[in-house]
Amino acid sequence: MDFYQVIKTRRSVRSYKKKEIPQDVLERVLDAARIAPSGSNRQPWKFIVVRDEQRIKKLAQLCHNQSFIAQAPVVIAGCGRNIHYNRGGWMGDYSVIVDVAIAFDHLTLAARAEGLGTCWIGSFDNEEIKKYLGIPEDYNVVALTPLGYPESDKVFCETIDRLPLEEIIFYEAWGKK
Ligand SMILES: Cc1cc2nc3c(=O)[nH]c(=O)nc-3n(C[C@H](O)[C@H](O)[C@H](O)COP(=O)(O)O)c2cc1C
Repeated sequence: MDFYQVIKTRRSVRSYKKKEIPQDVLERVLDAARIAPSGSNRQPWKFIVVRDEQRIKKLAQLCHNQSFIAQAPVVIAGCGRNIHYNRGGWMGDYSVIVDVAIAFDHLTLAARAEGLGTCWIGSFDNEEIKKYLGIPEDYNVVALTPLGYPESDKVFCETIDRLPLEEIIFYEAWGKK
């Protein structure tokens, strides 16, 4: 699939078929996360792939009862370790969130290229999910996503729900069009 077609038609999918994902497809999507860039190539991430139906149901509850998550055959939790290191700059300890977010975005785009839906989940109970999945103290959950074939491929449409370029791009300096 053409790259621009992938990024234009990736949508948040909130309705899934009960159809298994072949292992080779799943591994290609996970590999897209693995090869993402990170600050100083730290790769401070782990990805937990949950396929057990009961565990997925529990995760949906821990995502503030977003029940559509439980329709998907797979849920992935992206976790990041704060290594208290960065090359300066104001982001400091937040850099891990940037790193994991880049990897997770690779994952969601690769999923789209495979005909799979995702929905970035930022609303969840970090501490409870850490307990439930046995995540060590020095890691936090940055994002989760259900992963599965959408109920309808029509969901993969181009969005019109974005600000126009003129409103978000400046040339040379702030405010210069
Ligand atoms: C950081 C972040 C957190 C989000 N959290 C949720 C969430 O908890 N539940 C949900 O249904 N969608 C969530 N979304 C999806 C956004 O609502 C969605 O990306 C946005 O409305 C644009 O729609 P699109 O993804 O179809 O282009 C989140 C997206 C991002 C990037």
